[in-house]
Amino acid sequence: MNIPIILGIESSCDDTSAAILHGQKILSNVIANQEIHQKYGGVVPELASRAHQQNIIPVIDQAIQQAGVSKREITAIAITRGPGLLGSLLVGTSFSKGLSLGWKIPILEVDHLQAHILAHFIETSASMPQFPFLCLTVSGGHTQIVKVSDYFDMEIIGKTIDDAAGEAFDKTAKILGLPYPGGPFIDKLAKTGNAKAFQFPLPRISGLDFSFSGIKTSFLYFMRDQLRKDSAFIEKNKADLAASMQRIIIEILMQKLVKASRETGIKEIAVAGGVSANSGLRAALMDGESTFGWKSHIPEFQYTTDNAAMIAIAGYFKFLQKEFLPLDFTPYARALHKN
Ligand code: KG4
Ligand code: ZN
Repeated sequence: MNIPIILGIESSCDDTSAAILHGQKILSNVIANQEIHQKYGGVVPELASRAHQQNIIPVIDQAIQQAGVSKREITAIAITRGPGLLGSLLVGTSFSKGLSLGWKIPILEVDHLQAHILAHFIETSASMPQFPFLCLTVSGGHTQIVKVSDYFDMEIIGKTIDDAAGEAFDKTAKILGLPYPGGPFIDKLAKTGNAKAFQFPLPRISGLDFSFSGIKTSFLYFMRDQLRKDSAFIEKNKADLAASMQRIIIEILMQKLVKASRETGIKEIAVAGGVSANSGLRAALMDGESTFGWKSHIPEFQYTTDNAAMIAIAGYFKFLQKEFLPLDFTPYARALHKN
């Protein structure tokens, strides 16, 4: 069999992305961020789908050009079917149907959350995880510990019961007056702050589930009280506040990941999703190698937040299984598994 060339398309939220994959090697990965949402402090669904419509053709064109392949060489299209914003998903799925008809090539459906995990199988200099492994999937909408036994044999063994880790970062940033999405700004500020300056209580949630609403509320009340006493409190303590909140969010994540590794006996540990770009979380995962004897797998920075390279690699494994989608499919907004 010839090595397939797959065009991946991602449009589930506010990034329009296209990538070209040759086997497990990425030839191009183009991402158009939608800056329009920044002034609203969050993603506005209607504006997101309109921006996808504007971006999708130039982004795909650029991905093909950068990869140095011709359209005729593309074997299949991998597309995010869900979960995500329905209007955004519709732009990508409808466009892929048109391409599939025009170019006479099949469509491979990809689940966005599985794709974040499968990004670990993109050929890079780092070693790939061995099955079974545990993957901490942390994004703006989801927080899960997934036991991955094979490419598409995944079991969620822990999940958030309220907010996602990314939301905890974004809400903290909003209170501190930082732009949206706030995770990267907290990360940057935290580097110059004292992570022990402020203490917030760890939630007590049984099993492997997470909760972030408690620290969000304590942070909100704490800030309200401090600002009453000193209206310049944020300006004076911004870096320490960012560092302290980042520390507790990482502690919540790591506590359950360590527990999951102990309970399952699995020491191959991976992290995926936008929050896996966080330098503190990446460092904590690497520390796990010496502290707990883990083999930690951390994705390259460019494959952490939403991108089409991860969609293309997930599509590649679907292609090997010959799992093609009939053209009358519709996208799904909600996760196939809860949270
Ligand atoms: O996976 P992703 O790009 O989109 C979703 O599928 O949700 O994740 C976006 C989330 C946002 O909440 C963003 O603030 C967070 O990832 N994020 C970070 C960092 N970079 C992105 N959070 C903490 N530190 C970062 N460096
Ligand atoms: Zn994502």
